[in-house]
Amino acid sequence: MSPRRPRILSGVQPSGKLHLGNYFGAIRQHIALQDEGECFFFIADYHALTTIQDRRQLAENVRAVALDYLALGLDPEKASFFRQSDVPEVTELAWILSTVTGVGLLERAHSYKDKLARGITPSAGLFNYPVLMAADILIYRSNLVPVGQDQVQHIEMTRDMAGSFNGVYGKVFPLPEWRLDRAPTVPGTDGKKMSKSYGNTIEIFAEGKALKDSVMRIVTDSTPVEAPKDPEKDSLFALSSLFADGDERKTLAARYRAGGLGYGEVKKMLIQKIDAHFAPARARRKELENHPSVVEAALRKGAERARTEAQETMRLVREAVGLR
Ligand code: ADP
Ligand code: TRP
Repeated sequence: MSPRRPRILSGVQPSGKLHLGNYFGAIRQHIALQDEGECFFFIADYHALTTIQDRRQLAENVRAVALDYLALGLDPEKASFFRQSDVPEVTELAWILSTVTGVGLLERAHSYKDKLARGITPSAGLFNYPVLMAADILIYRSNLVPVGQDQVQHIEMTRDMAGSFNGVYGKVFPLPEWRLDRAPTVPGTDGKKMSKSYGNTIEIFAEGKALKDSVMRIVTDSTPVEAPKDPEKDSLFALSSLFADGDERKTLAARYRAGGLGYGEVKKMLIQKIDAHFAPARARRKELENHPSVVEAALRKGAERARTEAQETMRLVREAVGLR
């Protein structure tokens, strides 16, 4: 018998427009992994309720994320691609996991502490966010979770929860590993981590003036054009590197160090790189926008496959804990 292919799972919140951080940190790996294992990728709409409380906005964001993924190369024949809320069993598992999870563990979550520090009054949902995320991962008994650096702690917490559950009730869940891409933390236009919640993003599908405006916002220091510049300290260099192979990166670094290269010129080159890189995906996205039923059919088919698997896990979980 051939060994089971690894289960690969990841989610993205529909909390705003997808950006270069999402792409180079997460989505690029998702697309590349479609041939490596049995893949489950989903739009985390339950999670987005912790920040989006406008039904139209939520529906529009979900639609946009679905289009983005399909345009970027997600193949619904290879990967199960679905809306989180189409598999409501995940909320039942989240409840059960919360009963083996210490409050102390949740209080230590960086993303929660970060939101508190920004003055947000937390809902219980925000506090429990990592429990629902653990349920997302464990309900498919996933082995590998491709994400950006900011999600690693959540996966460590998932491993803790799986370990606690298995310790109390017997082994049901494998302990998942995380997987980072080459760019685990992409900087935003202000030099901090690029994030939908910081207003510092460059959107994957921005074009023309919108794209130009966001690239022009990238903060650089005040070194004059003629002076040598340090590429390692510059987020414009880091962003440009995303679109460069090893040699191109070395050449650009050398031009920084030599002086005579202005940031304005680097920004112009970056816009050209972004345009060229995403041109095929933009064309596919425009095409798909005219066929909403194709998108909906893909999501439904993905949900059906995912739900079958989730129901099987819940059968094991219910039996293990003694429900029914
Ligand atoms: P955001 O922080 O913009 O709300 P999400 O939390 O929805 O983005 O992240 C979706 C995926 O993209 C996750 O795997 C996350 O780790 C990854 N990601 C988000 N921002 C970045 C970034 N700046 N660099 C690398 N990966 C990122
Ligand atoms: N918390 C993730 C983020 O903000 C989204 C997410 C929800 C996720 N559930 C997941 C990622 C399960 C990986 C696995 O990016």
